[in-house]
Amino acid sequence: MINPHYKANDGRYDCGMQYERCGRSGILLPRISLGMWHNFGDVNPLSVSRDMLHFAFDHGITCFDLANNYGPSYGSAEETFGRVMEGSFRPYRDEMIITTKAGHDMWPGPYGNWGSRKYLMASLDQSLRRMNLEYVDIFYSHRFDPATPMEETLQALVDVVRQGKALYAGISQWPYEASQFAYDYLAARDVPCLIYQGRYNMIDRAKADEGIVDQAARNGVGFTAFSPLQQGVLTNRYLNGIPEGSRAWRGRNLTREMITPELVTQLKKLDALARRRGQTLAEMSLSWLLRNDKVTSVIVGCSSVNQLNDSLGCLKNLSFSEEELQEIDNILSSFA
Ligand SMILES: NC(=O)c1ccc[n+]([C@@H]2O[C@H](COP(=O)([O-])OP(=O)(O)OC[C@H]3O[C@@H](n4cnc5c(N)ncnc54)[C@H](OP(=O)(O)O)[C@@H]3O)[C@@H](O)[C@H]2O)c1
Repeated sequence: MINPHYKANDGRYDCGMQYERCGRSGILLPRISLGMWHNFGDVNPLSVSRDMLHFAFDHGITCFDLANNYGPSYGSAEETFGRVMEGSFRPYRDEMIITTKAGHDMWPGPYGNWGSRKYLMASLDQSLRRMNLEYVDIFYSHRFDPATPMEETLQALVDVVRQGKALYAGISQWPYEASQFAYDYLAARDVPCLIYQGRYNMIDRAKADEGIVDQAARNGVGFTAFSPLQQGVLTNRYLNGIPEGSRAWRGRNLTREMITPELVTQLKKLDALARRRGQTLAEMSLSWLLRNDKVTSVIVGCSSVNQLNDSLGCLKNLSFSEEELQEIDNILSSFA
């Protein structure tokens, strides 16, 4: 056992976490979910990953977002989760929504990527083994595959639900037209799409601008926003340089070149506004998303318990005046 002494906080549902219904379904999601894309792989100390997972669950976070290739190395975030499941989370399994995905590069050769039935089915079996689970709560198609018939990808989602390996199906980063096809296809087979997962934050508003957030709501599908802090940009992380060990410092998915002086100027103005609201920049960035009840949940990442604690504070103030919203838009309107 990794930590035989773990006992979940008895007050975990009295810590201020809020829960929102996920589309037209029986599922309530915590408004803050924890994502394991970075910082939970086998290059990270297990004890740090475990502490963040425990802290999350102890504070009412019931949704843990994974994918087959999260790490590094590929698969290792799921292995980390599996070890924590064995060591401490097992008694609480029924209190958790655990997700995984397949769609991006995972193993060599023609069957370890994109959207074939062959890939999705094999990948989910692997994920279940790594996570020490009999089923996941949500299985996502991680991305739209323009070369595979949509029916094939979607039927694989239907079938994994019918097999009991997943309780619900979701799609991530699918374009507008394809999403409508997916919602209709899945609903017609009595496996309605539970949730759409898309990148959405104050800087990157494409999913709202393209109508995907509204489309999900119209179809009775929840919407969960990933990278709500724009990978840490929309926090105090880069206000005074690029700290050693940060995501931009490591250069994986976020690079030093992306932290331009113009961006830092905008972030400092946003930070000043957040302070006037009595929030940190991370809190304000998450509040900005969660003020919209079409955003069921935001999936935050973190590299420390302190960061996660900071993010949780956003729920104390989800309202914005028109002037504040306008000021945010004005600050970001020159964003390249
Ligand atoms: N469906 C998809 O295609 C897809 C794609 C990407 C992500 N996702 C999901 O979304 C999750 C979140 O993505 P993300 O990690 O990019 O989210 P994010 O919340 O935008 O960024 C997380 C990073 O921000 C920094 N941070 C977090 N809280 C902070 C705070 N309070 N103060 C200062 N810095 C803070 C940390 O960076 P440092 O590491 O530098 O400390 C942390 O690793 C992923 O884990 C994954 O589950 C899904």
